[in-house]
Amino acid sequence: MSAAAKGGLEDVVATSSSICFIDGERGVLSYCGYDVHDLAQSATFEEVCYLLWHRRLPNRAELGDLQSQFAAARALPDGVVRLMRSLPPGDGMDLLRTLASALSHYDPDASDNSAAANYRKAVRLTAQMGTLVASYGRMLQGGGLIAPDTSLSQAANFLYMLKGNRPDPTSVRAFDIGLILHADHELNASTFAARVCAATLSDVHSAVVAGIGTLKGPLHGGANAEVMKMLLDLGEDATDDRAEAFVRGKLARKEKISGFGHRVYKTEDPRATHLRRMSKELGERAGHPRWFQISQRIEQVVTSEKKLFPNVDFYSASTYYTMGIPIDLYTPIFAVSRVSGWTAHILEQLANNRLIRPRADYVGPTYPQRFLPRDQR
Ligand code: ACO
Repeated sequence: MSAAAKGGLEDVVATSSSICFIDGERGVLSYCGYDVHDLAQSATFEEVCYLLWHRRLPNRAELGDLQSQFAAARALPDGVVRLMRSLPPGDGMDLLRTLASALSHYDPDASDNSAAANYRKAVRLTAQMGTLVASYGRMLQGGGLIAPDTSLSQAANFLYMLKGNRPDPTSVRAFDIGLILHADHELNASTFAARVCAATLSDVHSAVVAGIGTLKGPLHGGANAEVMKMLLDLGEDATDDRAEAFVRGKLARKEKISGFGHRVYKTEDPRATHLRRMSKELGERAGHPRWFQISQRIEQVVTSEKKLFPNVDFYSASTYYTMGIPIDLYTPIFAVSRVSGWTAHILEQLANNRLIRPRADYVGPTYPQRFLPRDQR
């Protein structure tokens, strides 16, 4: 066998894909050739979903069709709502994992694994994921569940269902940009897990559940909630000096700072550029500028001391916080967006499938070991 891959499959090219391109040296991220900066500037999340699934931007009619399909698919089956209410309180990602799995039992295409049915499942799951997370947020806050509004975009409907009132355009646009930035990221851990599952010819829901379980970890999507917990530990009234001492202490103890570092980017994560700006603007608008300012001081220290840059999770934390979103929803919101990328990759995998089955470099006891009867061991 050839030499073992570097730990964590670093730099291993595991498949070819036409969905997402990253140049980690130059800080470039593009979906199907479109620079993420242009998409964040001018596109909507719905357009990005279409782009990921079809590899081209929709025309007006195609976009209208997709918006209608999302709106029609948003409501949750009664059985899933009952299950949501019956589960004990706990981690939002655990809840999402269970409920995304439960959705498969009610999916009208559950037994059909054709490409057309799988596409419909991708649309339905993307529509339903927002409803699931917003409804969970309502439950967390002790409010009654709110029915989806079919006239609203995915972003606006999410905020409406979470807060119970019509969201203002600035919040909707900020949330929409957040969804665009999180939609896909090549073979990140959760997408790879989803593709491995799909490649066994399992089903779309199972592959998405694999993605959710993988996204949960604090080295991946779970980092955004960890960032906010760190900021809250410091407190909104912390001075810059206190923030600096706090981070220096963590680095001295060789602790990782959530929201920094990336396997692929060796420079600024292009998604962080937008989230930094949104954190500043929304914080100032909400009258809570300190979360951004404290974050910025932390960034200065970590970047100068460790040459590590903020990733997508660092400034999304303070952005969501100033939007009044509960911390338990941060990683689930990541999934509300990333389900579009997971399903794009699942469909791509299935279109030209081969089982994903790598090898391990065996380093255990030498072969053959003599098998001894139990009383001689
Ligand atoms: N804080 C402090 N030191 C760090 C950090 C960090 N956030 N990230 C990496 N380092 C250090 C490591 O301690 C290690 O140092 P050493 O060589 O002296 O031991 C070196 O940088 C390399 O780190 P690895 O963990 O080996 O890098 P890897 O490529 O495996 O990990 C990862 C990337 C998991 C993102 C890592 O940077 C990390 O743990 N970051 C914090 C968690 C986080 O923000 N995750 C979200 C990533 S983005 C996403 O998934 C959506």
